[in-house]
Amino acid sequence: MVSLNMWTKDSLQELIKEKMTDYLFVVVSNRQPYIYKFKKGKIESLRGAGGVISALDPVMQACGGLWVANSGGDADRRVCDRKGKVGVPPNNPNYTLKWVWLTKEEEKGYYYGYSNEALWPLCHMAFHRPIFRKDDWEHYKTVNEKFARSIIEEIGNRKAFIWIQDYHLALLAKYLKRLAPKQLIVAQFWHIPWPSYETFRICPQRKEILEGLLSNDLLGFHIRYHCDNFLDAVDRELESKIDRERFMVTRAKQHTLIRPYPISIDFEGINHIAQSQEVKTIKKNLVQEFDLKKYRVLLGIDRIDYTKGIPERLLAIDRLLEKHPELKEKFVFLQMGQISRIHIPKYKQLNDEINALVEEINWKHSTDGWNPIILVRRHLSFKEVIAFYKLGELCVISSLHDGMNLVVKEFIAARRDKKAMLVLSQFTGAARELTDAVLINPYDREQTSDAIWKALNFTDDEKKKRITKMRQVIKHNNIYRWAGKVLSELLKFDFKE
Ligand code: G6P
Repeated sequence: MVSLNMWTKDSLQELIKEKMTDYLFVVVSNRQPYIYKFKKGKIESLRGAGGVISALDPVMQACGGLWVANSGGDADRRVCDRKGKVGVPPNNPNYTLKWVWLTKEEEKGYYYGYSNEALWPLCHMAFHRPIFRKDDWEHYKTVNEKFARSIIEEIGNRKAFIWIQDYHLALLAKYLKRLAPKQLIVAQFWHIPWPSYETFRICPQRKEILEGLLSNDLLGFHIRYHCDNFLDAVDRELESKIDRERFMVTRAKQHTLIRPYPISIDFEGINHIAQSQEVKTIKKNLVQEFDLKKYRVLLGIDRIDYTKGIPERLLAIDRLLEKHPELKEKFVFLQMGQISRIHIPKYKQLNDEINALVEEINWKHSTDGWNPIILVRRHLSFKEVIAFYKLGELCVISSLHDGMNLVVKEFIAARRDKKAMLVLSQFTGAARELTDAVLINPYDREQTSDAIWKALNFTDDEKKKRITKMRQVIKHNNIYRWAGKVLSELLKFDFKE
């Protein structure tokens, strides 16, 4: 039987085996879990970046099934069959990845445009104006429909559970239900924040977005606050019945449950990989490559995105050195930043801003042969990321707004040594669970630099005490618990006769 207290990979597998084997299980997201690229004439496979992949790849490895995603690698077509399918993970396939092929125009309008220039800034309070272009919206609709057709093609006459991921696919449930009203039970998880109504109401397509999401049987957000915001928006925009006791919306015979499910990571998996010889070797090489041996190491790890508060973090390091010049030549701040969404002008500007800021801060504080900040831009394999986590004694996450932030959870899971500390933005979903981190308001430079100073001066005992508590929280609230809770709720629905 499935234990309700501690979810593990095995208990999730058991749940699936007991209850779901008669049905097809489909996960859908924009980003693909594995990418195939040409490198020096050979095909190389990489794990996709970002929170959705780190969370769901272990779940799919536990459940099997089908994952439908947008193709992003130049060698994807070379490795798949005629229907665009390939077994993954590449070394040990245990689920199927199916690609949806988008044209350049579709990708521009749907992904760069409506998803990332309209919905992303709309949902994150990072003071960047969303841009709503009519053409982007048209592409967004077309691509959502394309995903629906691709899924239905696979399902045929079978019954299926579909689990949609994120803001790229807000209309997918509607199109799916239109094509196959009786065979599907559909859930969606919204991985980013849901804004307050005051913010949401500027969206010209707000009604269509809400209608799309209310075609799901179950709709999940990270925290209760986002569920409340969503219900407020429904209340103000659509004719529907809202049951605030049960967190359920009823509209045109469709019931949608709205639930908070704080996402997490594969704690045991990461804990295990972090102890492997391979990671230890990578770590040793990184120490050499960046010449870290003599220094205390502080870390920042993010996609380059304006919601992550990277300039704010660098400015806090600058302030720290102004206030504590004795720290010169004592530490380095290693900022890993994977380039992201670079065809969007705001991301390009941010990238330039970060380069300029690092130049300036390094110039200001450098001494012979020492610079306070090292910027690392290359793509890191998953194991390299884990090795990076083990390099530093302090990780600084200063997101201006973040649905959850899984980097912090991965960092904690990788630190079985317990000789590490975390400075964490109060505006991340993770801050609600990880109250033993040193919490900051990243907009407050003075406070952020003081928090870094404070964390650097914790005794080993203090660090150990705090990180032990945080590890317990994540160990319990792990990714299998997240997926198990969503799937258990899904299983309560009956297929329509
Ligand atoms: C966020 C989104 C994910 C997305 C990730 C990476 O975490 O919620 O859906 O995959 O960012 O962004 P990208 O645009 O590179 O897929």
